[in-house]
Amino acid sequence: MSTSGNEPQPSIVASPAIEAGKRVYIFDTTLRDGEQSPGASMTVNEKLEVADALVRLGVDIIEAGFPIASPGDLDAVRQIAERAKGVTVCGLARAVKIDVEASIEALRSAEEPRIHTFISSSPIHLQYQYRKDQDQIMEMAEAAIKQAARFTSNVEFSAMDATRSPKEYLVRMFTMAIRAGATTINVPDTVGYTTPDEMAALFRYLMENTPGGDRVIWSAHCHNDLGMATANALAAVQAGVRQVECTINGIGERAGNTALEEVVMALRTRRDAFGGLDTAIRTEHLVSTSRIVSGASSVVVQPNKAIVGANSFAHGSGIHQDGILKNQQTYEIMTPQSVGWERSAIVLTKHSGRHGFVGRLEQLGYTLTPEQAQSAYERFIALCDEKKHVSEDDIIALIENERTLPPEGYKLQQWHIDTGTGRATASVTVAIDGVEHRAEITAKGPVEALFGAIDEATDTRYKLASYIVDAVTSGIDAQATVRVRIIGEDGKVYGGQGLNTNILAGSAEAYIAAIARAARTTRTAHQAALA
Ligand code: KIV
Ligand code: ZN
Repeated sequence: MSTSGNEPQPSIVASPAIEAGKRVYIFDTTLRDGEQSPGASMTVNEKLEVADALVRLGVDIIEAGFPIASPGDLDAVRQIAERAKGVTVCGLARAVKIDVEASIEALRSAEEPRIHTFISSSPIHLQYQYRKDQDQIMEMAEAAIKQAARFTSNVEFSAMDATRSPKEYLVRMFTMAIRAGATTINVPDTVGYTTPDEMAALFRYLMENTPGGDRVIWSAHCHNDLGMATANALAAVQAGVRQVECTINGIGERAGNTALEEVVMALRTRRDAFGGLDTAIRTEHLVSTSRIVSGASSVVVQPNKAIVGANSFAHGSGIHQDGILKNQQTYEIMTPQSVGWERSAIVLTKHSGRHGFVGRLEQLGYTLTPEQAQSAYERFIALCDEKKHVSEDDIIALIENERTLPPEGYKLQQWHIDTGTGRATASVTVAIDGVEHRAEITAKGPVEALFGAIDEATDTRYKLASYIVDAVTSGIDAQATVRVRIIGEDGKVYGGQGLNTNILAGSAEAYIAAIARAARTTRTAHQAALA
């Protein structure tokens, strides 16, 4: 049995542009598997921002989280389900009753809800983790699928560690899963162990031997432990798989997951090699989505990362530069513009006016409130005075910063640092709800002194979880994006972002933004408890 040519359409929003039977569905798990990357946890607002970007990008399914993991995760999935339209929203659930219940709870208001339930199938997992035999595992899976199917007709089942599992057992499991109501069958290479040939052979075997296999969408979920996640996913597609599970920038557990941008651009650029298969992704949003995810997750994109890395279209050698000048195709297999680099030759200057500035932002896919647009425009004009050349990257950074501005009421009024080898003294004045608080601290370095002075002035002592500085463009006058994460009193992570041509000013902005969020949330929770 093969799914090509006549595969069923799951109940997800279809793209009219792709020929029937040639569609590969993109299941984005940035907000679930991606968020499991060490240090990548996101605040609810950051998750909403990522979800909006994924909708704009045109993914088919958003795996919004793992609702049973915490009340915060459940809330994030619920909010995404309420807000994301024209897309399937999915919640992950172990094959246990309370997990499926939590996903149902979170997905109630989704336009098109999907429950993704999973259980292991490999001998090593069954023996050491589950301490159950194959039949007991099958019973758990069947009960969870049936429970999910009573809520939605869109149910995905995964056999975790499938690539290290006996294939006959997988056939038994998937036969049961399809009978119980699963409409998507996912085969994860959980530990990133398999090779492209093995992956393709496994899918062919499963598709040929699983009764009912022609009625479901087959899906691949690959991890990158041996650097083969994209190759394995593409081999699966060649074998008949029509859903790829992936993340933006390839973030995810350990070495990460299949990178969405790689699969999408491989299919688009090499349609010839993949029999005309394609996705509904609006590729011109890949770079901006990558930036949003990097900002929200604090996972920096390596410069040589395919498609979205800063160097992915940079030509260093003279021979290559010469070729590019003569004909772009000499050394470029896709255009930078097609994935969202250098979107326009129109240079925005302070003479462009507010109208021109906002119009360009709309073309880039950014929708700002009138207040955000005004504030972004004022910052843009100020930047034009500071920098000789304001690039589109600068403007995008400015907008993304605008969207993550801290809650009202906290403002850095003034700061000053004296520093030299091994010693720095920082003084700051922070206004909180209009009342000024001043402090001065001496420490070993300028950032430590600055953050210490801000702690003192705001009377807070949060634990710093991460501090990342990233230059937006090259050049001595480049703006720096600074991202700070702190652990709030409630144990949650609060993030703040600063953008400035002065790294220390950007650091102070970011730190105060994080403190403001943590303090405001804690205060609101406290007030709610008193009410
Ligand atoms: O890698 C994996 O096996 C998973 C499953 C939950 C699908 O992420
Ligand atoms: Zn995974």
